Amino acid sequence: MPISLRTQVGIVGAGPAGLVLSHLLYLHGIDSIVVENRSRQYVEERVRAGVLEQGTVDLLVEMGVGERMKREGLVHYGIELRFAGHGHRIDFQELTGGKGITIYAQHEVLKDLNNARAATGGQVFFEVEDVSVHDFDGARPKIRYKKDGNACELTCDFIAGCDGFHGICRPSIPSGVLTEYERQYPFGWLGILAEAPPSSAELVYTHHDRGFALLSMRTPQISRLYLQCDPDEDIDRWPDERIWQELHVRLASDGWKLTEGQILQKGITGMRSFVVEPMQYGRLFLAGDSAHIVPPTGAKGLNLAVADVRILARALNQYHTTGGRDPLDRYSETCLRRVWKVQRFSWWMTSMLHRFPDENPFDQRRQLAELDYVTSSRAAATTLAENYVGLPME
Ligand code: PHB
Repeated sequence: MPISLRTQVGIVGAGPAGLVLSHLLYLHGIDSIVVENRSRQYVEERVRAGVLEQGTVDLLVEMGVGERMKREGLVHYGIELRFAGHGHRIDFQELTGGKGITIYAQHEVLKDLNNARAATGGQVFFEVEDVSVHDFDGARPKIRYKKDGNACELTCDFIAGCDGFHGICRPSIPSGVLTEYERQYPFGWLGILAEAPPSSAELVYTHHDRGFALLSMRTPQISRLYLQCDPDEDIDRWPDERIWQELHVRLASDGWKLTEGQILQKGITGMRSFVVEPMQYGRLFLAGDSAHIVPPTGAKGLNLAVADVRILARALNQYHTTGGRDPLDRYSETCLRRVWKVQRFSWWMTSMLHRFPDENPFDQRRQLAELDYVTSSRAAATTLAENYVGLPME
């Protein structure tokens, strides 16, 4: 006999979507249990995203998990677009009525959330195995898994699939229900974390003949840098020296210097756009990367996951307090309006800044004209700025 447990909302995955959802539900007085197959240490150390929209920051503060972020996060009020060897600033503060972004690593957000869950009696089970979801087309969905070798069955009212693109929740929905929309890009990003003070106060997105490059950061001592590369690039072909050399060439701009440092970590990220519709089936709700992936050029992945679970928490709270199912029934529809706008923005930033293997000289001239337009027209700069700092929540 499996060990039986009971909760109101069973959450698969302890990433940003799962943990924000769990803590929001706690604040609404709704019980949840989170199951995660990785270890807490792995989740809290894996280097991922780093840019938080204003709305994400505001939510984390409202939830009471924003204290360290407010202290250690770096608030930026603009980014630089660099092309044809010159930099052009997009002034978010001026263009969006005072909004900005905060640089604070995803794994730091996860540490803060885990601490908050632990301090308030939250149940987050790490290192569980063989997770599967059942009976979500009925009133008593179940999550089965093994913990320390023991079979467990968690009965809940609802399941939240927050287990990422490769998770088990999305593929558990019967075939024929979901429609997938996908676009692959013919390039990837080679990313490094370096022990070097950021060479620029703000993020620098660079269009260059040899491919896109991005200068970002994590702290005043740690830089995060990326280079466009082949999608199946072999990281072993990139010794540190070659990476720095290529960064110097692509980021070059008059009177500007790139500071080097010890490379602490390097890796290659694929690029894809992906959406599944609908984001729900019966009592199973998908949130974050399990339902959609954006290429990283717009810095939107984490923010979109947080936007999903904010809507889901509100809908579950409505059901819990009044029995009203309408917001739950419309969860997918509500989320997808934002998801597709963020897809559009991420695709647009990606298309504008990267070299494509099949492009012709016309495309290249058009890209440069687009960058010139975005950095010289207030209307065009505003569309970039309002998307980058985050579209308003519905
Ligand atoms: C990062 O710092 O990792 C980062 C920043 C901006 C992006 C993507 C990644 O668009």
